[in-house]
Amino acid sequence: MYGRITFVVGLAVANALIPDLHMRQAVGSPSPTSEPTGGSSLGGSSTGSGSGSSSGGSSGGGSPEATGTTSASLPIDTNFSPEPFSFNEAATVNSEALASAASIAGTPATDIPGATIPVQPLVSPNPETTRGNFTGSATVTGAIAKGALNGTISALPPNPEATVFKANGILQSNQTIPFQPAGGLGTNGTEPVYRVQSDFDYQSLLLGLYQEWIELDLFKDILNRFSEADFAKLNLTASDRFLVEFMAEQENGHATLVSNLLGGPGGSTPQCSYHYPYETLDEAFDFAAKLTQWGESGVWGFQAHLDSRESAQLLDQSIATEGRQSMIFRQLGGLFPMPVWFETGIPQSWAWTYLAPYIASCPSNAKRLAWQNFPELHILNQPSAALVNASQGASAGGSAGNTTKTSSNETVGWGPAAPGSEAAAGNASCTLTNKTGDSCGGSISQNHSIPLSFPGRQVFLSWDAPGKPVGPNNSYVTSTLAKDPKFVVWVSQLNVTYSPLEDIKLVPNGTGSGTTLQPDISTFEGDPAINGTMFIGLTDTDDPFSMFNLSSINPHVVALGLYQAG
Ligand SMILES: *[C@@H]1O[C@H](CO)[C@@H](O)[C@H](O)[C@H]1NC(C)=O
Ligand SMILES: *[C@@H]1O[C@H](CO)[C@@H](O)[C@H](O)[C@H]1NC(C)=O
Ligand SMILES: *[C@@H]1O[C@H](CO)[C@@H](O)[C@H](O)[C@H]1NC(C)=O
Ligand SMILES: *[C@@H]1O[C@H](CO)[C@@H](O)[C@H](O)[C@H]1NC(C)=O
Ligand SMILES: *[C@@H]1O[C@H](CO)[C@@H](O)[C@H](O)[C@H]1NC(C)=O
Ligand SMILES: *[C@@H]1O[C@H](CO)[C@@H](O)[C@H](O)[C@H]1NC(C)=O
Ligand SMILES: *[C@@H]1O[C@H](CO)[C@@H](O)[C@H](O)[C@H]1NC(C)=O
Ligand SMILES: *[C@@H]1O[C@H](CO)[C@@H](O)[C@H](O)[C@H]1NC(C)=O
Ligand SMILES: *[C@@H]1O[C@H](CO)[C@@H](O)[C@H](O)[C@H]1NC(C)=O
Ligand SMILES: *[C@@H]1O[C@H](CO)[C@@H](O)[C@H](O)[C@H]1NC(C)=O
Ligand SMILES: *[C@@H]1O[C@H](CO)[C@@H](O)[C@H](O)[C@H]1NC(C)=O
Ligand SMILES: *[C@@H]1O[C@H](CO)[C@@H](O)[C@H](O)[C@H]1NC(C)=O
Repeated sequence: MYGRITFVVGLAVANALIPDLHMRQAVGSPSPTSEPTGGSSLGGSSTGSGSGSSSGGSSGGGSPEATGTTSASLPIDTNFSPEPFSFNEAATVNSEALASAASIAGTPATDIPGATIPVQPLVSPNPETTRGNFTGSATVTGAIAKGALNGTISALPPNPEATVFKANGILQSNQTIPFQPAGGLGTNGTEPVYRVQSDFDYQSLLLGLYQEWIELDLFKDILNRFSEADFAKLNLTASDRFLVEFMAEQENGHATLVSNLLGGPGGSTPQCSYHYPYETLDEAFDFAAKLTQWGESGVWGFQAHLDSRESAQLLDQSIATEGRQSMIFRQLGGLFPMPVWFETGIPQSWAWTYLAPYIASCPSNAKRLAWQNFPELHILNQPSAALVNASQGASAGGSAGNTTKTSSNETVGWGPAAPGSEAAAGNASCTLTNKTGDSCGGSISQNHSIPLSFPGRQVFLSWDAPGKPVGPNNSYVTSTLAKDPKFVVWVSQLNVTYSPLEDIKLVPNGTGSGTTLQPDISTFEGDPAINGTMFIGLTDTDDPFSMFNLSSINPHVVALGLYQAG
């Protein structure tokens, strides 16, 4: 199953054949349990090996028929052409604000530097944004793509020049001007141009804009759904509500900045409609902390690779704020604010995989993404921030859980960021105590005496088959290029590490289950690497990857999940 990319019958998927990938996969030993199926999670659509292939027979030497596997194609769309989107870019002077500034200063506004400079308006959120599941059907499907897609990116040795510079405290090169050491990029006087410069830049920032738009809606939803009394139950006040409101405004500013970097209306995309898995305020904080974490880590994963350093500069300045938001949601939810020394980075396709399940639909003039959606990896015993003792599980409250040793599920809702369930927590809920360290009442810092997880914890996993429709209008489809899963990759702080996948059970329909042990690794002495909201995946390899080349792991990823280690 994992050796193949399966075609989703019945969806308007534009298919592209990738002979090289088929060749590579075909050599791998096929899963013992794998039967020719459509691999689809769309009930009733899979009818056998040739079924649904629109291109399998038309290819040359690398064709899957030649190697004895089923025909295969990817959920991609090579024909996308966007409808126009526009927003008001005309900068104006707000005369009311001007009058107010002048009256406070007791000087004419024209004397206050900058006061009369026109300001760009915010890109308006979509007034038709709704909340709830999408019920229609997709009109277009798949990640956008271009070209024959038949190349490979092979691993190369390091650039020999990268080890030449002598780092010994002595200046190595003559300077052009005093006080300015030689080197650096963008330091030669060239005027900066703040716009994307390549498809890589554009698609990375477009993904960033999808993220900013959901955050704006999410923060508003938290304020709309939960009252001051709900906040008070978590020891939170009107000032805390104002903080959430202010964070929503920050998101509108970020969406405007990213829209500009994308080249203005022609490159920007409107806000979508969303559905959220939480039911209580504490669950909403848990969800928001997870969502902002992949928002932050998603950008750290690509910002150093952007062609446009100018865009990277401004984007970083918005993502620093995003990182603070993630920390604040941890504080509002009573978690220790920052349990790590370094924030990690993840590839764009990972961030898109985590985000897509929460986007219900987008307007027809939305731009589309080129990134991959991986199948979902379910953490069956996800550590729950809703519990006083997450190791014990809800069993203390009389229910069946014992999350350290069993696969009991104590989350609510769906998707990789499903929050710890307050209902499942029952009497063991941390909302039922005000004891510092046990409570999940809002606080600048709660030093939890009982950590959410620990090294050596057995983690129970199951995963979806590829071919599941996800994301806006169900118009993207999960896929994998990997063979059978053998390892779990843990991405946290500065580290990419593996643990063996054990008790593996593969099911012919492409799903499966297994367990692994939470590793015990450190960045440096005194900093356990695995903590906070972190990223895990199933892989067919334990080849070494690191922060700067992590996207090269993508062809080896079977499924992706989020793990709440602390
Ligand atoms: C795959 O098979 C398992 C075990 O038989 C079953 O529980 C699951 O619902 C099936 N999934 C799909 C998508 O058909
Ligand atoms: C909404 O969709 C999610 C999966 O995307 C599903 O788990 C959930 O049950 C749906 N909710 C409703 C009310 O249909
Ligand atoms: C990919 O396909 C194109 C068009 O079929 C061909 O010109 C090109 O040489 C191929 N590239 C590789 C790396 O096979
Ligand atoms: C650096 O400056 C010194 C002193 O002016 C000069 O002799 C030397 O040629 C310069 N080196 C280079 C690489 O320009
Ligand atoms: C200045 O640096 C940029 C890259 O940062 C380069 O493209 C450009 O050619 C350089 N200009 C000069 C005059 O060296
Ligand atoms: C938390 O639960 C675990 C597992 O039941 C238990 O070993 C541990 O003593 C508990 N910790 C506290 C502080 O109650
Ligand atoms: C959890 O399960 C383990 C192993 O089955 C058992 O030793 C432990 O006592 C259980 N803890 C609770 C609180 O039920
Ligand atoms: C856990 O339980 C919730 C609520 O019953 C359900 O929505 C969710 O899908 C379950 N998660 C897993 C991984 O089984
Ligand atoms: C904790 O304290 C807050 C503020 O005094 C209060 O509103 C809340 O009810 C208390 N919660 C519990 C479980 O005692
Ligand atoms: C919640 O607020 C109450 C009243 O101010 C205080 O006594 C209690 O310690 C607080 N709880 C936590 C967990 O901070
Ligand atoms: C995470 O960090 C917190 C705060 O330092 C610590 O109490 C906890 O033990 C750590 N958790 C793990 C899994 O290392
Ligand atoms: C984790 O990352 C740090 C910093 O790059 C490195 O020194 C350490 O060896 C890594 N540990 C593992 C187990 O990969």
